[in-house]
Amino acid sequence: MKIGIVGTGLLGSAVGLNLLDKGYQLTAYNRTMDKTRKLADRGAKIVSSPKEVAENSDLVFTIVKNADAVRKVAFGDACIACGKHDALTVADMSTINPIDSKQIAREFQNRGISFLDTPVMGGPNVAITGGLVMMVGGDMRVFEKYRQIFDAIAGKVFYLGENGTAHAVKLAMNIQIAMLALSISEGIVLARGASVDPEIFLKILNSTYFKTGMSENKAYKMIEGSFEPTFTLSNLKKDLDTINEAAEAFGVSLPMTKAAGDVFGDAEEAGLGQIDYTGIISYLEKRARSG
Ligand SMILES: NC(=O)c1ccc[n+]([C@@H]2O[C@H](COP(=O)([O-])OP(=O)(O)OC[C@H]3O[C@@H](n4cnc5c(N)ncnc54)[C@H](OP(=O)(O)O)[C@@H]3O)[C@@H](O)[C@H]2O)c1
Repeated sequence: MKIGIVGTGLLGSAVGLNLLDKGYQLTAYNRTMDKTRKLADRGAKIVSSPKEVAENSDLVFTIVKNADAVRKVAFGDACIACGKHDALTVADMSTINPIDSKQIAREFQNRGISFLDTPVMGGPNVAITGGLVMMVGGDMRVFEKYRQIFDAIAGKVFYLGENGTAHAVKLAMNIQIAMLALSISEGIVLARGASVDPEIFLKILNSTYFKTGMSENKAYKMIEGSFEPTFTLSNLKKDLDTINEAAEAFGVSLPMTKAAGDVFGDAEEAGLGQIDYTGIISYLEKRARSG
């Protein structure tokens, strides 16, 4: 089974390195060629268009920023669909609106190409050893055909039904990420404001039912002010926008997610887009001091 990746940013690179480690043959493309170097060093074939990735692969993952980028690599110049062959299936791991995902699935199907939604939870640190959690939407027979590859990428794989369903659940997941980053940040800001060591706040939090992976791990980096990105603040802001757009289309109101989108938007405008999303604490700390 030959695998392709279009988009070797933080997530795509880690997914690719894990597949190479597990012995899969990998072809990769990234708009900015530099970001394919690690994969090339480990034996991936690097090509100069999404079309060539498709021509060299049975299963191509798109792992790019947003739905516009998925459409561009899928149907634009020298695109994945341009490299169509009988065995080709495309799986999108980017986080996008389920409405876009359904349209993209239809467009691939109209061209005779199978398409699955395969959004994931977990960042590059777990992707590198195949520890992601994957949600899958699309034709179950196509899912079954590639199940072995999905199991190599993700320790837990959930098949959820038709195209779009997996992305709807993924967006619900990312609400959790944003809210946890905000609530831990404000807890630390309050503890510091009261001259209490924030590590005490975390120690107690982590002794309770309300502890999370974030409070047990990244929260300590938030205290240190260490924000090396595994998932950029700008990408989480993009996801909050996507969630708010999807909620509007589904006719549901999400006031907290809307407020979170505003806060992350202000932080992005303040120049914090390329740090880790947990760097939202540095924006909230500055804002707390300025009243
Ligand atoms: N990192 C995580 O923890 C994580 C976890 C789950 C899901 N995701 C989702 O996975 C996707 C990728 O995330 P990431 O963290 O790898 O982001 P990233 O490091 O910012 O990489 C973004 C990728 O998208 C490409 N891209 C952006 N706009 C493009 C366009 N118009 N045409 C072609 N390529 C384009 C970039 O190419 P260039 O290098 O040329 O800019 C790069 O390869 C996003 O949808 C993100 O929300 C990320």
